[in-house]
This record gives sequence, C-alpha cells and structure tokens, in this order.
Amino acid sequence: MATNRSGAARPNGAPQTKVCKLVLLGESERGVGKSSLVLRFVKGQFKEYQECTIGAAFLTQTVCLDDTTVKYEISDTPGKERYHSIASMYYRGAHAAIVVYDITDEDTFERARNWVRELQRQASPSIVIALAGNKSDLAARRMVEFEEAQAYADENGLLFMETSAKTAMNVNDIFLAIARRPKNEGAAAKSSCCKVI
Ligand code: GTP
Ligand code: MG
Repeated sequence: MATNRSGAARPNGAPQTKVCKLVLLGESERGVGKSSLVLRFVKGQFKEYQECTIGAAFLTQTVCLDDTTVKYEISDTPGKERYHSIASMYYRGAHAAIVVYDITDEDTFERARNWVRELQRQASPSIVIALAGNKSDLAARRMVEFEEAQAYADENGLLFMETSAKTAMNVNDIFLAIARRPKNEGAAAKSSCCKVI
C-alpha cells in the first residue's frame, strides 16, 4: 500500500503531492538568464531576446517525480541591482532558491555569492539553495571556471550545475534535483525540501 512520508497509508494509493515554492535570484545589467531558465523549464522554449523582468513573474509547473507529483510555484525576480529589495521579498517563505550567474561574466558570480550569503542569513534555515552557472553553451567565452564554482558550492552545501537555457542542458535536472534534495544534510533528514499537501 502507498504511504506518505511519515509512513501512514494514503487513501486509494493516490500519489503524494508536494508544493515547491521556488525563487530565482541573480543580478546583472545584461541578464544572467533567470527568466530564460524558467521559460525553458515551464514551456520548453528559448527566446534570443528575452525581455528584462520588471517587478516579478510567477509561473507554475507540475511534474511527476518517482511516485510523487511536484507542483513548482516559481517566482522569477528582476536582476537589475536597483530592484534588489524587490527580489529579496520573494525568498521569504520559499522552500528553495536557484541563484543564477552567467559563466561568461565574473561579476555575476560575485553577485551570486552575495545572494547566497543573504539567503544564509535571512531566508528560512531549511531553504535549499542551488547555484546555476548559466549560458554553458558559451563556454568559449567562459570567465568562471567550473571547478571554482563547484568548490564554492561544496563549501556552502549548495547544489551546483552549469546550465544552458538555450540548449536545455541541465535545466530540468536542476529543478528536479531541488525537489529530491533533503531539507538539510543531517543524517536524520529524510523529507524533501518541498511541502507535502
Ligand atoms: P532580468 O530579468 O533583467 O534580471 O534578466 P534574466 O536574468 O531574467 O535574463 P533573461 O532570461 O532575460 O536573459 C538575458 C539574455 O540572455 C537574453 O537575451 C537571453 O536570450 C540570453 N540567455 C539566457 N539564457 C541563455 C543561455 O543559456 N545561453 C545563451 N547563449 N543566452 C542566454
Ligand atoms: Mg528576467
């Protein structure tokens, strides 16, 4: 018989449903690709001229993951520095954050580290943080080494992938890895980061 995460039987063996409130953060005047990652994940599309986000955008996507239905409630925030305080409103209450930088722009990696520090200080202590090194299709213009970002992610307990919204590389993977990730890495942690409903 199907059981929920506490081991109790679920009626009719219905699949478990989880809600994952997720926020995308990351700054640049040119755009690191937050909206493009969301567009790729939700609609399977990519736009060469993605308009810059003003305010914030909200999208949902539902996927089946093993025997669980995961509903992502995604807040896509603006990346221009002058909107930092708007973006910061959206991580409160989030189960997970994807902090995005552009592998061709060193400044965006520095800004990503600032976001991680802010999340570690001010977001929920159980928030799952993923770091996305986006625009991996532009590796010929790379300014941030994979190994440097991986070492930083390891030191800070972050999920890390290089992604490309353009080619779709690792885009589904990073969203799915978040839903699979335990709330914290303690030995006793068995529940995933998202809320079971
Ligand atoms: P703001 O909303 O202004 O914060 O930007 P953003 O982080 O949402 O970036 P956006 O998705 O608008 O992308 C900015 C530009 O980068 C657009 O012209 C995209 O087409 C381009 N872009 C996004 N992702 C990729 C990628 O993986 N590869 C390449 N080559 N270009 C990308
Ligand atoms: Mg945007």
